[in-house]
Amino acid sequence: MNMVLLGPPGAGKGTQAQRLAKAFDLRHLSSGDMLRAERRAGTALGKRVESYMDSGALVPDDIIIEVVLSQLPSESEAAGCMLDGFPRTETQAESLDKALADAGRKLDLVLELTVPDDVIVERITGRRICPKCDGVYHIRHTPPKKAGVCDREGAELVHRPDDTEAVVRQRLAAYHGQTKPLEVYYRRKGLLVEADGMQSPDAVFACCRKIVGDRMHRRGD
Ligand code: AP5
Ligand code: MG
Repeated sequence: MNMVLLGPPGAGKGTQAQRLAKAFDLRHLSSGDMLRAERRAGTALGKRVESYMDSGALVPDDIIIEVVLSQLPSESEAAGCMLDGFPRTETQAESLDKALADAGRKLDLVLELTVPDDVIVERITGRRICPKCDGVYHIRHTPPKKAGVCDREGAELVHRPDDTEAVVRQRLAAYHGQTKPLEVYYRRKGLLVEADGMQSPDAVFACCRKIVGDRMHRRGD
């Protein structure tokens, strides 16, 4: 089972991907987490992508395609994958189709979390993340047990540098201009299913779990 989680910034892709990957034993591949890890490690790649990320623009296709596709499970590995934040352009989507085909795999499902723009700014400005495990919290909706501290790692939670209102608006513009057209791309292939991202995180999870489970059942896993 290989799937993509699609949706605007703050839709809940990371929140749901972590839970779904665990429930269905899929490899969680988050393009944003990969880029943030490069930045934390101070690599040349991390430095190249800094200005794009901090301004809310998409990183160039050639860079992100290489970063993400090198992490796809190989043909001999049993695990499927859950892509979160990739693809975001039609060029990326085409490169994913090709890489999966080269690995003897195919895309089975594109699950889109729908959330209106006006809710997104509040979600993103209240988000805190764990710098060790990339765990996602929200100061009101999904707070950690102890304020400011990751439940799993005990690490101090941080605010992502691109989580300001001004940058979120740029990220939304990039989403509507460059990523939203993927809906048509995947609908044409019969892969797109929408889930209402406006419910509680647990209700969204229940809905996504049913959609993924049904699709797995259909393909006979
Ligand atoms: P990335 O890290 O992927 O950011 P994003 O797409 O903007 O998405 P977010 O991570 O902000 O949101 P999310 O949907 O994961 O929501 P979350 O679960 O955290 O990308 C960052 C940057 O990297 C990009 O801007 C770009 O520069 C670059 N990049 C990455 N991939 C790229 C690509 N393919 N091509 C080019 N450039 C790329 O939830 C958000 C908040 O809401 C949290 O606080 C959470 O607790 C809360 N929340 C979640 N669900 C709910 C709910 N149901 N109700 C209430 N609150 C909720
Ligand atoms: Mg995310």
